[in-house]
Amino acid sequence: MKTIDSLGDLRGKRVLVRSDFNVPLDGTTITDDGRIRAALPTLRRLTGAGARVVVTAHLGRPKGEPKPEFSLAPVAARLGELLGADVALADDVTGPSAQKVVGELADGQVALLENVRFDARETAKDDAEREALAGELAALADAFVSDGFGVVHRKQASVYDVARILPAAVGELVLKEVESLSRATGDPERPYAVVLGGSKVSDKLGVIANLLTKADRLLIGGGMVFTFLAAKGLEVGTSLLEKDQIDTVKGYLATAEENGVEIVLPADIVVADAFDAPAPAGVVPADAIPADKIGLDIGPESGELFAAKLADTRTIAWNGPMGVFERADYAAGTRTVAQGIVDATANGAFSIVGGGDSAAAVRVLGFDEAGFSHISTGGGASLELLEGKELPGLTVLA
Ligand code: 3PG
Repeated sequence: MKTIDSLGDLRGKRVLVRSDFNVPLDGTTITDDGRIRAALPTLRRLTGAGARVVVTAHLGRPKGEPKPEFSLAPVAARLGELLGADVALADDVTGPSAQKVVGELADGQVALLENVRFDARETAKDDAEREALAGELAALADAFVSDGFGVVHRKQASVYDVARILPAAVGELVLKEVESLSRATGDPERPYAVVLGGSKVSDKLGVIANLLTKADRLLIGGGMVFTFLAAKGLEVGTSLLEKDQIDTVKGYLATAEENGVEIVLPADIVVADAFDAPAPAGVVPADAIPADKIGLDIGPESGELFAAKLADTRTIAWNGPMGVFERADYAAGTRTVAQGIVDATANGAFSIVGGGDSAAAVRVLGFDEAGFSHISTGGGASLELLEGKELPGLTVLA
């Protein structure tokens, strides 16, 4: 992949940067600015080189029309604070406001275009529609830097098509993400363990299938574990269960056995009378979940078991929390596993935390991010890389 160096002298040049500023918001308050901070190395490098930096990004899924609740205004303000310089926000994507804001940029300044998904052509299936928007974005710049790792799995105008028009390079964040994740997808140091959680097996089918040929151990927790327990013929009470995936999971269990991949399931489960019951009802063995109870976290014995299975590993990938960690009563499983990963990392393992919920869990539970080798900013993108897929936003930069 071509790096920023390949773009030559950038002083006075307009550089379009695709960032992923899809941050969680509570109203207009950003509750986790990790993705904005992750964009800073590229932006600082470009401003330091005297470029006029035009950032394009999305927030949420506004479905192709301007919606105030998806405005990037809170992001422009936070980005300005972090950069220590004003960031002008255009109130359109490529229209008169965008052209004016870009025209007024001085060397070393940064401007942000309004949410690129306010334009339906960004996510259009039709190539010509996407190319038309990409042409308008390209007209605002002399070069393109792809740095929105969280969207490199999307074949979208500001990710893929624009890179085919302008001289294009990969940014610092995407470079770091790809280098780190390739330590798991390439030829991982063994033992290689993958911890998978989150609510749905169906979101992770591709990744599980691929890992059954790659990983040494698969540790399963979170809501998806109940489909695994059901596939082993166990009662799961009123826990989250994807009945239509039970046969697929049975197939995974058989393949794992054939391939010598160890599948580690929880030994105990924290249960409640209902999802929104005020307190847990207790901890039960994983093979004795009462029919009227719902499982909301892996139990203490399971946390210890998982941590023990991580202790001697050399490579770890983690995607998805072990329980409903946002609620203190159900955070212990995720906390114990995260601590197990931190301890293994201190012993020399290379650990990758997949984006989205697990990265949020690390921060919400108060872990020092430095305890992990790499915390990815990509949810779907990091999963697709672990799945072994080719990502359009990366292949276009090859
Ligand atoms: C993410 O949050 O994973 C990325 O920003 C991609 O968002 P999307 O799933 O809406 O394309």
